Amino acid sequence: MDHFWIAVFTSLTLVAWVSSSQVVLESKPCDSSGQCTWNWILETKTGPGIVGWTRRSGAAIRYTVCDVDLHPSAPQPSSWLLSDQLIIANDTNRIDITVEYLIRSCSHLPPNNSGGAYCVNFFYLYVNQSDHYILDKALYPNPLLNTAAYENVARIGRLINVKTLETIKILNKGKYLLLAFHNDGACNSLYSVKVTYYVCPGGPLVNDNSLVSLARTVAPANDSQSIRVEGSCGKDTVHVAGSLYVHCQSNGEWNTSGLKGKCICKEDMQNVGGKCQACPDGKYNDQNGLNCTVLPSAPRNINFTFINQSSVEISWLPPAITVIRRNCSMTSIVASLVTIMKIISVLMTLAGVMSITYHIRKV
Ligand SMILES: *[C@@H]1O[C@H](CO)[C@@H](O)[C@H](O)[C@H]1NC(C)=O
Ligand SMILES: *[C@@H]1O[C@H](CO)[C@@H](O)[C@H](O)[C@H]1NC(C)=O
Ligand SMILES: *[C@@H]1O[C@H](CO)[C@@H](O)[C@H](O)[C@H]1NC(C)=O
Ligand SMILES: *[C@@H]1O[C@H](CO)[C@@H](O)[C@H](O)[C@H]1NC(C)=O
Ligand SMILES: *[C@@H]1O[C@H](CO)[C@@H](O)[C@H](O)[C@H]1NC(C)=O
Ligand SMILES: *[C@@H]1O[C@H](CO)[C@@H](O)[C@H](O)[C@H]1NC(C)=O
Ligand SMILES: *[C@@H]1O[C@H](CO)[C@@H](O)[C@H](O)[C@H]1NC(C)=O
Ligand SMILES: *[C@@H]1O[C@H](CO)[C@@H](O)[C@H](O)[C@H]1NC(C)=O
Repeated sequence: MDHFWIAVFTSLTLVAWVSSSQVVLESKPCDSSGQCTWNWILETKTGPGIVGWTRRSGAAIRYTVCDVDLHPSAPQPSSWLLSDQLIIANDTNRIDITVEYLIRSCSHLPPNNSGGAYCVNFFYLYVNQSDHYILDKALYPNPLLNTAAYENVARIGRLINVKTLETIKILNKGKYLLLAFHNDGACNSLYSVKVTYYVCPGGPLVNDNSLVSLARTVAPANDSQSIRVEGSCGKDTVHVAGSLYVHCQSNGEWNTSGLKGKCICKEDMQNVGGKCQACPDGKYNDQNGLNCTVLPSAPRNINFTFINQSSVEISWLPPAITVIRRNCSMTSIVASLVTIMKIISVLMTLAGVMSITYHIRKV
């Protein structure tokens, strides 16, 4: 039952973190909510002077092992630290395992600054990737008896005598993942283990004025396989010119260098931080992709220079207030005036009045 709840909890956390571009599958000793537990399985080949991986609590939970100063006639140490079986989302391409460790250099260890017969300055990460869920942890394959069940994926020990973070990238090969850290002579500590994968986030592109919206896409294993995804115009937007293809990169970022088109806010809305919001009162936007501006005022000094039953010719001075800001097209002004002309001609024909009040309507 215990395992069942762990499984459920893992899938829930998975859902909770999808908005970020890195999904956390496992984080030891502490998860994102600050809850700290770390109780993994230990398998140690017994022998004189051998202690194997040891869980340390106190200020911070960690695992250490330091079986050095062994006599050459003693067997070589072999100690395993096994994770719980982790559930891997079926669409995951690459899994990143980030470990924080410290290895003490053999040349500082007894006897005679050698660490003894078996001392080494590295340890190993093995994995078992399978589609088989094992409910009872006691039934996890025992690496001491069945080494073939685990695949060696990394020798860890880039730096010694200093706390180091190292990320091992593996391709996903199954629904479940078991990590197995193997020590065969090093004196080292393991401070943290984090298992993650990258996702290009769904929703509108962030830090981009294009307003293009994308479907959440699991990142490819590497950039030579970057995934081409077609964006769409989000809520309250309209597509203008060009295709909306972008690429999902292995680091969970959208590469928009191929993006040709864009989306603009519908009429009477403007782009505020990537979302279209209604124009404030008294302002208006004619779907030109810019911000809301002040309404055009009435044209001044309108003269009807020619009138018959089917036509009216009007001349005017430009409005006192123009909608135009820099770069703005003439469309909004012309469109407004055309409407005004229509209204006036209708009123003219209906009433034949000389004094006309007119109304401005958006077009
Ligand atoms: C992954 O799982 C989901 C539901 O759990 C399923 O709809 C989808 O087809 C699966 N995808 C693959 C590639 O197996
Ligand atoms: C350490 O070095 C000393 C002198 O060099 C030697 O006598 C001794 O046997 C060495 N001890 C071990 C355990 O190698
Ligand atoms: C991983 O462990 C399972 C048992 O849970 C075993 O059946 C499988 O063969 C192992 N994978 C490999 C690659 O040996
Ligand atoms: C990226 O993927 C391609 C195709 O699968 C492969 O040939 C290449 O070796 C990979 N590159 C790296 C750095 O993993
Ligand atoms: C984005 O993709 C283009 C090719 O489409 C590539 O040349 C460029 O290096 C990529 N940008 C980044 C930051 O990877
Ligand atoms: C639109 O308004 C926002 C703030 O409301 C501003 O940051 C942005 O620069 C404006 N864009 C243009 C094209 O004026
Ligand atoms: C009104 O004037 C226009 C332009 O001069 C002309 O084409 C049209 O035939 C005239 N309509 C009438 C009913 O006279
Ligand atoms: C319209 O006519 C009035 C007087 O008839 C004149 O003062 C004004 O300049 C004319 N306006 C235009 C734009 O021609």
